Amino acid sequence: MLLRQIARARRRLRKQYWRWMTPLWMAEVRDLGRRPRCYGRPEIDGGDNISIGDDIRLASYLVPCWLDARRGRIDIGNHVTLAHGIQVCSWSHVTIGDDCVIGSYTRILDSDFHQIDPDEPIRTEPVHIGRNVWIPGQAQILRGVTIGEGAVVALGAVVTENVPPRSVVAGSPAKVVRTFERDATR
Ligand SMILES: CC(C)(COP(=O)(O)OP(=O)(O)OC[C@H]1O[C@@H](n2cnc3c(N)ncnc32)[C@H](O)[C@@H]1OP(=O)(O)O)[C@@H](O)C(=O)NCCC(=O)NCCS
Repeated sequence: MLLRQIARARRRLRKQYWRWMTPLWMAEVRDLGRRPRCYGRPEIDGGDNISIGDDIRLASYLVPCWLDARRGRIDIGNHVTLAHGIQVCSWSHVTIGDDCVIGSYTRILDSDFHQIDPDEPIRTEPVHIGRNVWIPGQAQILRGVTIGEGAVVALGAVVTENVPPRSVVAGSPAKVVRTFERDATR
């Protein structure tokens, strides 16, 4: 009984700690909207090149959520949730629209970050994730991809091509498995 009370108190304290620390953890972000909430400490590199809208939820309690815009730019809209273990690495430009929910261990990369053919430059192209997209988790979103409004990217998908609005894509490489008429409410 006592142990249970201690565990509960610890959980409450942890939540308070996250609330107090959020302004410090997000201090590097140049354009930060209102009411940001961090659950654990995120890893933020290149905050001068990052903008985040209102009501961001950034979870890092198991593994940090990592935003790296040292050589690129990351723009995140309003009411976006990013789960733990997410990596967003930009050498070009990554945009994430309003109301998106992005699940744990998803990677969003706008560059190959390495040469493949020594006679060609490293391939780097912006990634655009439209409004109200749901990515349950462990997806890989690769350079040059646009994900249409309201789309769903299934668990573990590797997205190499554009995703039409209001469609579900799954697999590696991701293919459309379903389309629907209206946006779901996230
Ligand atoms: C997106 C998701 C909800 C499935 O959406 P759906 O539209 O209902 O898809 P269905 O189950 O009808 O499957 C449609 C097809 O896609 C395939 N498919 C579904 N999910 C898949 C996946 N993650 N990887 C590969 N293929 C998948 C199905 O096998 C099926 O193929 P078939 O038509 O050849 O039989 C599901 O893939 C998913 O990601 N679930 C995880 C939810 C989750 O993690 N929630 C917690 C985090 S927020």
